[in-house]
Order: sequence, then C-alpha cells, then structure tokens
Amino acid sequence: MIEVSGLTVRFGGVTSLDGMSVAFESGTCGLIGPNGAGKTTFFNVLSGFVRPAAGAIRAFGEDLLAKPHFQRARWGVRRTFQTEQAIEELSVFDNVAMIHEHARMGRASRRADVLRALEFVGITSAPAAPAGSLNARERRLLEIARAVVGRPRLVLLDEPAAGLPDEETAHLADVIRRIPEQTGALTILVDHDMSLVSACCATTAVLDFGRLIAAGPTAEVLRDDNVVQAYLGVANGEAGTGSEHDKADSGGDRAGSNAGDRAGSDPGDKAGSGTDGRAGSGGDGER
Ligand SMILES: Nc1ncnc2c1ncn2[C@@H]1O[C@H](COP(=O)(O)OP(=O)(O)OP(=O)(O)O)[C@@H](O)[C@H]1O
Ligand SMILES: [Mg+2]
Repeated sequence: MIEVSGLTVRFGGVTSLDGMSVAFESGTCGLIGPNGAGKTTFFNVLSGFVRPAAGAIRAFGEDLLAKPHFQRARWGVRRTFQTEQAIEELSVFDNVAMIHEHARMGRASRRADVLRALEFVGITSAPAAPAGSLNARERRLLEIARAVVGRPRLVLLDEPAAGLPDEETAHLADVIRRIPEQTGALTILVDHDMSLVSACCATTAVLDFGRLIAAGPTAEVLRDDNVVQAYLGVANGEAGTGSEHDKADSGGDRAGSNAGDRAGSDPGDKAGSGTDGRAGSGGDGER
C-alpha cells in the first residue's frame, strides 16, 4: 500500500501538487485528471525526480521520501514515461536488461527474467533485433517490459496507451491488469483513456489543479459531479470557448487519443468530452 499525506510540490509560483492525501491499496489503481493536474509530477515524486515542499509517502510501511532517488529503482520503483525511452540502436533484449543494473540478480536469472518480461507483454520480435525496428504498438509494450523486470514493488505507468489506436488497447489492458499477479507489484495507471482505466482499475483517484477531488471505486468516481465538472471545466468557466477548442486541437496526439478514448463507455463519454475542454491548458510541461 502507498499512503500519501499532504503532498505538496511547487515550481516557482506553480503549485503542481497541493496537499494531496490518498491511499493506493493493491492491484492496479487508476490516477486521472485533466492536463496539468499533477499526475506526472506525482510520479516524479515517487521515483525521486522531484522533491516535494511538504508531505509524506509511506510505501509498504517504509518512508519512501527518505530514500535517495538513486536507491528507489533498487528498492523496486519502476516507471514508464509519456514519451518512449527505448534506445533505438540497442537490442530489444538490452533495452530491458539495462534496468537490471539496479537489481541484485545473477546473469542466468537476469536473462531469464528479461525473456519472461518480453513474453509477458507479448513482444514476439527477436530479442536481438534493434528496438528501432519495433512498430508503435511493440514500442509501448517494450516500455512496460522495462517496468516489470527485476522484482518491481511499485509500477508507475504514465499514459501507456498514448498514440495507440483503440483496437490496440485491448491487449494493453490485458497486460496491465496482469502486472500485479505476475510481479506482485502495486501498479498505478495514469491515462486519459477512460475505457482503459475502467478496464484495468477497481479504484481510481482524481487530481485537478494538484488537488485530490475524488477517490474510490472507478465507476463511482467517473460519475462523481466534481470529476465531471473538472473535465468539463465548468467550475472554471472554461467550457465551450473557441480558444479552448483551438488549444485542444493543437494538443496533438493527446487530444487525438482523448477523442478515441470516449468511445464505448458512459463515464468515459462524460470525462473524455471534458478533457477536450481542458486539453492544452496544462500542456506538456513535463516533457
Ligand atoms: N519541472 C517543472 N517546472 C515547472 N512547472 C512544472 C514542472 N513540471 C510540471 N510543472 C507544472 O506542474 C503542473 C502539473 O504538471 P503535470 O505534468 O504533473 O500534469 P499532468 O497531470 O501529468 O498533465 P498531462 O495530462 O498533460 O500529462 C503543470 O502546470 C505543469 O506545467
Ligand atoms: Mg503527465
């Protein structure tokens, strides 16, 4: 279990996380919110890239913030990034194996673990092939393979479905759902694809402007008035303006993936349409 209390992060005049308190208990948990809500910032705190101004995080009873960032990977924090991290010239195998530098494991078990991770995510290309030869779908899966090797305890997935067409997300959902049983790790999924979050996560927390505005069973959270309003931007008077629409259009793949996300789920319809209203407002600040 990850228990977060009073977590606050500031960048100059911007408060990216504002007294966030929430618990992620087990399995695969969702974390959603409009662009700029603070989701990636939260992952940056967990993985040690960003030091909070205030607050505490207990991870399986341990004080996570007391661990220096270079020890977090060895402790078991794994993450994927909104933009892919694979090194194109390296082989598929080596891209996953490099994560093992942080894990104490012999050579034979390390090799077996890497091959198991590739099989687990469903990459069928030869492990010796360069990562640059993978297609878009396999590249996203390679990111997940990198997150499940070397005894992870906490797996953080930052928009793993970004850029993938809808028909590819069913396999991705299946992989994400199976991470906790495969590895024993608590998994937190950030995505704008509400149908993916609904398919993978029994519980979901929602951030808006750095504040936790809802947490609980995913279906209930997606129906919550505060959540619907946050996505619609009604509370901020943002909905329906021409300029917001323009920004959403310029949001590139994110705006595009949101449009796809809305298909087929009622809570997704509400939340997704609101996401359009806010797309581009927080932007791609962390990239
Ligand atoms: N290193 C940084 N320096 C300054 N501001 C930052 C930094 N990282 C994040 N921010 C700001 O903090 C806020 C939260 O950003 P964050 O990237 O965490 O949002 P997000 O919820 O991940 O959004 P998205 O859905 O667009 O990925 C934004 O206003 C962003 O511009
Ligand atoms: Mg983000």
